[in-house]
Amino acid sequence: MPKTIRRLHLGDCLQALRDLVPSGSVDLVYLDPPFNSRRLYSARLENEPRAAAFDDTWAWDAETEAEMAFVTENGPPALARLLNAFRETAGDGMAAYLAMMSARLLELKRTLKPTGSLYLHCDPTSSRYLGVVADAVFGKGTFRNEIAWKRTYSHGGARKWGAVHDDLLFYAMSDGYTWNRTYAPFAGEYAEGAYGIADPDGRRYQAITLTGAGHTGGESGMPWRGVDPSAVGRHWAVPRKNLAELGLADVPKGVHAALDRLDSLGLISWPKNGSVPRFKRYLDSALGTEPQDVITDVNRLSKNSGEGTGYPTQKPLALLERLIAASSGPGDLVLDPFCGSGTTLVAAERLGRQWIGIDMSRLAISLAERRLRDGFGPRKLKWVLTGSSSEPAASPWSPKEDSLAKTIPIDRDAERFTATHWHPCVKALNYCPSAFPSPRHSALKWLPGCEWGSFCSWIK
Ligand SMILES: C[S@@+](CC[C@H](N)C(=O)[O-])C[C@H]1O[C@@H](n2cnc3c(N)ncnc32)[C@H](O)[C@@H]1O
Repeated sequence: MPKTIRRLHLGDCLQALRDLVPSGSVDLVYLDPPFNSRRLYSARLENEPRAAAFDDTWAWDAETEAEMAFVTENGPPALARLLNAFRETAGDGMAAYLAMMSARLLELKRTLKPTGSLYLHCDPTSSRYLGVVADAVFGKGTFRNEIAWKRTYSHGGARKWGAVHDDLLFYAMSDGYTWNRTYAPFAGEYAEGAYGIADPDGRRYQAITLTGAGHTGGESGMPWRGVDPSAVGRHWAVPRKNLAELGLADVPKGVHAALDRLDSLGLISWPKNGSVPRFKRYLDSALGTEPQDVITDVNRLSKNSGEGTGYPTQKPLALLERLIAASSGPGDLVLDPFCGSGTTLVAAERLGRQWIGIDMSRLAISLAERRLRDGFGPRKLKWVLTGSSSEPAASPWSPKEDSLAKTIPIDRDAERFTATHWHPCVKALNYCPSAFPSPRHSALKWLPGCEWGSFCSWIK
């Protein structure tokens, strides 16, 4: 039986990747590393004193020299030259940070399958440099997108433009990378404008044309229900793309028969003034927008979101769910080498992926564990916890975790599993009051108001 990989590891991800993660075994990497922001992040656990979480400041030291040696030996020759150039232009601190990241990106590249993808989450402090470094590590043609995530509200006061977004750099190792079509709800103002007509029961729709330009012979040019499109130089055009969106695969091929069918389904609006009827495209059955490279509809965590663990830099689940849904399939292995409070792991678990999370902070790992323990209710998850750290315990920590050595190998038979896992659509049906099994879609979809987070999918 293929084994499901669920692993949390406490320790530096450079060593952990070497010890635990075989080459070519990972489908998707998301990393949200420290940003060289020159801040010491701290976090407070419930009823506990303030405790250091992680130190985000960098100096060129012996560890950097070791990382540079590794990069020189294992990276493309240009990478070490780039890092030395950055030392001159951006200073030792930034260069040391980039050397640290280069070594880890090289290891991550090794772990990725040829079909794998990687999202590198950066803030504007270092994204300009990290992009150049990552291009050198992953090679020409692997860069796909720079995604701007609007992470906060407007800032004022500084004598420059308000910095309200993070960058996510998206790389794929080959053209055969996994890409699922996913959809997000329309923005409120767009939906109100574009779907401006409502049925008596309040159901909103847009009325789109049922005719195309030009006179044609045959059935499409003939009158239907007394309306003659040829009279105004047009022909009947059944909006087949919209029918696919509705899951209406069995609409007859003949034009008039198709129009009859749409009318019998209440999908045609008949203007009172007798003008040409139109197709009713309902807002609640539109697929929404495909994800774009500017994300403005995933808000930062608010105190009231119920999602916050108190860990500084915790990212919203909705953001991770969006990335994982687009770039991996059920049963795929998702790796987060700087997993912090475990957002990626929870999102991966919700979507039926396997996962590995690594972090060098005990506080982070214990929060991630707590989230995994608390988050899956009736499903008792089991995961492997390994690693050790010299950092003093910042939260209650059970001794068994420290006793496990880093030498425990990851399951070598990391094949994909599918059979026993809960597919997200099943979750949607079980947990999401707004999900329903029809119309039939193969595409994934976010359903507004879903209790199960922002992600649901409709059953195939
Ligand atoms: C920006 S936070 C990640 C937050 C996470 N995405 C979340 O949603 O909670 C960066 C994390 O990287 C960890 N970290 C820093 N250096 C590391 C290293 N060399 N190996 C593993 N983890 C490291 C820190 O402890 C911190 O938890």
